[in-house]
Amino acid sequence: MVQINGCIELAVVDGVALILADNPPVNALGHAVREGLVAAVRQAVADAAVRAIVLGCKGRMFFAGADITEFGKPLKQPGLQEVIAEFEASPKPVVAAIFGTALGGGLEIALGCHFRVASADARMGLPEVKLGLLPGAGGTQRLPRLVGPQKAVAMIVAGAPVGAKQALADGIIDEIVAEPVAGAVAFAKRVLAEAVPLVKVRDRAAKILPVRENPAAFEAAAKAALKKLAGVDAPAACVESVRNSFMLPFEAGLAAERDLFMKLVVGDQSRAQRHIFFAEREAAKVPDMPAGVKPAVIKKAVVIGGGTMGGGIAMCFANAGVPVSIVETTEEFLAKGLARIQQTYAVSVERGALQQDAMDKRVALITGTLDWNVIADTDIVIEAVFEEIGLKKEIFGKLDKIAKPGTLLASNTSTLDVDAIAESTSRPGDVVGMHFFSPANVMKLLEIVRSSHSSMAAIATAVAAGKLLGKIPVVVGNCDGFVGNRMLARRSTECERLLLEGAKPQDVDAVVVKFGFPMGPYAMGDLAGLDVGWRIRKGRGVKAPVSDALCEAGRFGQKTGKGYYIYENGSRVPVPDAEVIELAAQKAEALGIKRRNISEPEIFERMFYPMINEAARILEEGIAVRASDIDVVWAYGYGWPVWQGGPCFYADLVGAKVICEALEHYAAMSGDAGLQPSALLRKLAETGGKFSDIGVAAKVAA
Ligand code: CAA
Repeated sequence: MVQINGCIELAVVDGVALILADNPPVNALGHAVREGLVAAVRQAVADAAVRAIVLGCKGRMFFAGADITEFGKPLKQPGLQEVIAEFEASPKPVVAAIFGTALGGGLEIALGCHFRVASADARMGLPEVKLGLLPGAGGTQRLPRLVGPQKAVAMIVAGAPVGAKQALADGIIDEIVAEPVAGAVAFAKRVLAEAVPLVKVRDRAAKILPVRENPAAFEAAAKAALKKLAGVDAPAACVESVRNSFMLPFEAGLAAERDLFMKLVVGDQSRAQRHIFFAEREAAKVPDMPAGVKPAVIKKAVVIGGGTMGGGIAMCFANAGVPVSIVETTEEFLAKGLARIQQTYAVSVERGALQQDAMDKRVALITGTLDWNVIADTDIVIEAVFEEIGLKKEIFGKLDKIAKPGTLLASNTSTLDVDAIAESTSRPGDVVGMHFFSPANVMKLLEIVRSSHSSMAAIATAVAAGKLLGKIPVVVGNCDGFVGNRMLARRSTECERLLLEGAKPQDVDAVVVKFGFPMGPYAMGDLAGLDVGWRIRKGRGVKAPVSDALCEAGRFGQKTGKGYYIYENGSRVPVPDAEVIELAAQKAEALGIKRRNISEPEIFERMFYPMINEAARILEEGIAVRASDIDVVWAYGYGWPVWQGGPCFYADLVGAKVICEALEHYAAMSGDAGLQPSALLRKLAETGGKFSDIGVAAKVAA
């Protein structure tokens, strides 16, 4: 065995050269790997004793793609295209031994090999679009030659991986093997014995020539893939490049792909998406967590309350294979809650997103009871009852008496004081907030709220539980609304003001949707139910004249057919309502507010800058430890478009100075001192500083 460099080794066994990469944790194709691979393949080709080559990896997976931390920095040669060209040009058969995941550049290098085998549990795909990129090492040219341009465009624009079985059916791999390297060696020997011709993927024309003659089906597939992706650069570039695969000669297609990649990689959208990639992984890390703190193992869970949130949370446990009991107060509520869960799963089965047997297994993991003693031997309890502090305290007092020592006691509160909840128990260290987002079984974000009492073990268990449930956990501090809802409250205040001052819900929503949110704030409010905010406002003695009046008139949003918009005959499509404008005009008159036309830029600034200002306050107070955590909260909990990077990333693009000046103007206009720039924002404005300098997901080159 020869160690080519720190990452690559080469061994020749029985005429087969084994080139093995070892670059933990994910075998990213960084510079040293690329350099080592080129040296190894050249050596294998030159070695007369070598008749075939197997390319594999050590560790958890085949190559997970290019090393994303190198993007945006000057490329060190050899690039991945050059590495792939070396393997492809080998006169000796090259077999890729895929296992774990082969993603992005990882799949692309495999596509440059003459043959590919994979273990049965392997997954492979080209997810570059999720980083605001397109596959930049031949993926858009070679994949269409294997699976056909229609399938390739769908797969590349979605960025979703496929399993080995599907890959075999589609022609991406040649065989499923029990053990990747041994299977690849056996495959290579068969190729030699049977003198199987070496047809490079680049030379396969059978699936692309017919599409060149008649591209209609491709254009339809491309259109379908691009639906709802207007304004996002990478998916359109993916389509253009896949189209090149059948319109241009291979080399020209490859060169065009490289040009498109280089354009995207320096763009703000890809920088934003790479920022979110690293920020997401950073967010669960707790800076003051001592080494050696181990999370508790979660084998059994209890959810208190079988309403929409409680049911959704119970589904998360069942989806992760953890038995879960729902505790309710009456048989009627319990039956309703369990029926809702059943129905939600049934819809997934109807849509083809879930198999019936998988649904049956999940449903069987969820039990309902009125008996609180079920809590006695559970590892985690999540309370998901009505948002009322007295009730929550009472429940936690009860949990304290029944739960075994060490059970994690979590509240799904979205705004309330977790310190106060913890203090209603004799073990405040075991209490945290676990704020799920609605629908809890779908939304990825989980705000983990540490109170001033939470023990490190409790925080570690909450983070581990979040990961177990497939969520993106972000650890935040305890304050009114935590990170997400606290910032949202600023936007809601501006929403109310804008209505009074003359803006229409549809105009404001349009500005927010144009930025990339799936919904504007009023449509969102109608979906969530306007009564929720109304109840919170009443509890706090806060007034919102227009929204309060809508609720007083029974307009709670979609569920009552009317809210800020009208929803006719059960439709979910918001239809603007002149009555709402009239109501806003009456309220404005009563309050002496002069109505005017409000420009799109003003709407934009008032929707986003007050939230950015609040983000700065949240950082000042240490409620979030990194600016990038706030971006993760907004990207995964509130629909902030990932290609806009989150509020702090976006603020850095605009510049703190511009935001400060605008806020000062709006503070003076409204008389709202809360709109005055925070000390941190002012400091950033004065020094030219950036949010990304404050606790960074720093791997994205500026
Ligand atoms: N480059 C650099 N670092 C990477 C990386 C990559 N491609 N993929 C993962 N990492 C890092 C993560 O940041 C993380 O680092 P920390 O431990 O410091 O936080 C570590 O590797 C482990 O990653 P995960 O926590 O995500 O591990 P996982 O086991 O949960 O998931 C994975 C593994 C599915 C491979 C996931 O990491 C992933 O999806 N990675 C990205 C894959 C990808 O997008 N590949 C395409 C790259 S672009 C490309 O290849 C362009 C091209 O055409 C040339």
